[in-house]
Amino acid sequence: MARILRCLVLIASIVFLGPPSTPGFAQSVPELLTPKTPPTPQINGPKVYGVRPGHPFLYRIPCTGTRPMHFSVKNLPASLKVDELSGIISGNAPAEKGEFVVTIEAANSLGKAARTFKIVVGDKLGLTPQMGWNGWYTLYDHPTDSDIRKAADAMIASGMADYGYQFVDIDDAWARKPGSTDAEVGGQVRDEAGNILPNVRFPSMPSLTQYIHSLGLKAGIYSGPGPLTCAKFEASYRHEDADAHQFNKWGFDLLKYDMCSYRNLVKEGNLDDLQKPYKLMGSLLKELDRDIVLNMCQYGNGDVWKWGRQVGGTSWRTTGDLGLAVGDSLPGFYSVGLANAALDAYAGPGGWNDPDYILIGTVGDANNRTAPPKATSLTPEEQYSYMSMWSLMASPLLFSGDMAKLDDFTLNILCNSEVIDIDQDLLGKQGKILRKTSLELILAKPLEDGSIAVGLFNLGKAPRTISVDWKEIEKRGRMQVRDVWRQKDLGKFDDTFGTAVPAHGVVLVRVEPARRKL
Ligand code: GAL
Repeated sequence: MARILRCLVLIASIVFLGPPSTPGFAQSVPELLTPKTPPTPQINGPKVYGVRPGHPFLYRIPCTGTRPMHFSVKNLPASLKVDELSGIISGNAPAEKGEFVVTIEAANSLGKAARTFKIVVGDKLGLTPQMGWNGWYTLYDHPTDSDIRKAADAMIASGMADYGYQFVDIDDAWARKPGSTDAEVGGQVRDEAGNILPNVRFPSMPSLTQYIHSLGLKAGIYSGPGPLTCAKFEASYRHEDADAHQFNKWGFDLLKYDMCSYRNLVKEGNLDDLQKPYKLMGSLLKELDRDIVLNMCQYGNGDVWKWGRQVGGTSWRTTGDLGLAVGDSLPGFYSVGLANAALDAYAGPGGWNDPDYILIGTVGDANNRTAPPKATSLTPEEQYSYMSMWSLMASPLLFSGDMAKLDDFTLNILCNSEVIDIDQDLLGKQGKILRKTSLELILAKPLEDGSIAVGLFNLGKAPRTISVDWKEIEKRGRMQVRDVWRQKDLGKFDDTFGTAVPAHGVVLVRVEPARRKL
């Protein structure tokens, strides 16, 4: 009888509580740590924006809260205007260099919010890391105009744009494929004047970028300095000038420039050879009458972080493709992240280390590109670690999963305003590695308000307690600690803070001097 009872209790506990968890991975039931955003207005995203004098300006104010929302901007330069309902600021930047500090205001029936925003008219673009989406890891060799439009729509509908996601980037395979007999991608690759032609899946690039811009978002395109892209489509070798002008005329705001077949042209691979094509494209883009940010993709060759900024790069990939990275005991993003984390000295406003995309949600397999995208195999804890690591490293936050299949858990990872604030912080410092052992990683990022964001990462297979001493982050005495994922104050701590961290998980905190009670 007792045995039957025990058996019944076990069955009931499995039905009601779920199966017993794997030792060490006790938290693998997806727990949504990000609190629901309040229905009152909350202005999110970057607090600074760089633009060249007189160039077109486009910024959709990222703001959560119940619609309709009413937007206004105090002290907006006369050459710019804000659309009251959509919160899209557009126009041309002032013709003279200078800093314009404006106040963004948002109001709905439940309340209002205000935030200071700095428009810096000068030579530097990308004053905070780009945020957006890139199509590579879901669309691979067959992106279409309609896929890209739908991704832009989803960026608005999912609420991602309300947190600061802005770029909608086409990757490889929009051009034509030299020598191909496939009716969709074959045919003449350039017109009589040498202008690059899109394949039939992209009937009108100007209409596509206009559509993206009408939503207040930005459009990215892809090419490379070699004759062919990685997927063997036409690239820009010996047509750099024509292509830079074409991308501009079409209305793109970002160019990902991928080395690929250029490698075969420079077998020696000395520094001059590596720099030459990026210098060329960087200087061509600078001369245009619109801003196009340059995302250099040459996998870290020649220590690109040391010179990427000088050749006009706004960001530079520091490693090979994350989608192909394999880990031993840990998933591939850890090794890519760790390699990138060592390069903290080189990142800053206008030039960022790029450890590649955020591959979570429903995502394609880079080793089997024709297979339908499927749910990530990363555990929830690993996904919190991924997003925390990228934010602490001030990395571009470019999601590359399926925008049509964004579930609540994925959005809870991508859209935590306080995590994003760490990535987009005004100081633009990349977090430093404070500790790295086989079981623990601590990254610390100084923030503009004097506080420090600290990520306590458990690299092991079992939960463990990880502590950080204030002297490790160059602080002393009593400090206030806030759990960033849960957006919750944890209290005041003297000299040290320690906490339980789940297997392959993270606790991300913001540490600031304890405020005196008034
Ligand atoms: C790779 C690049 C990927 C993707 C791909 C397209 O070299 O690193 O991010 O752009 O080419 O073929």
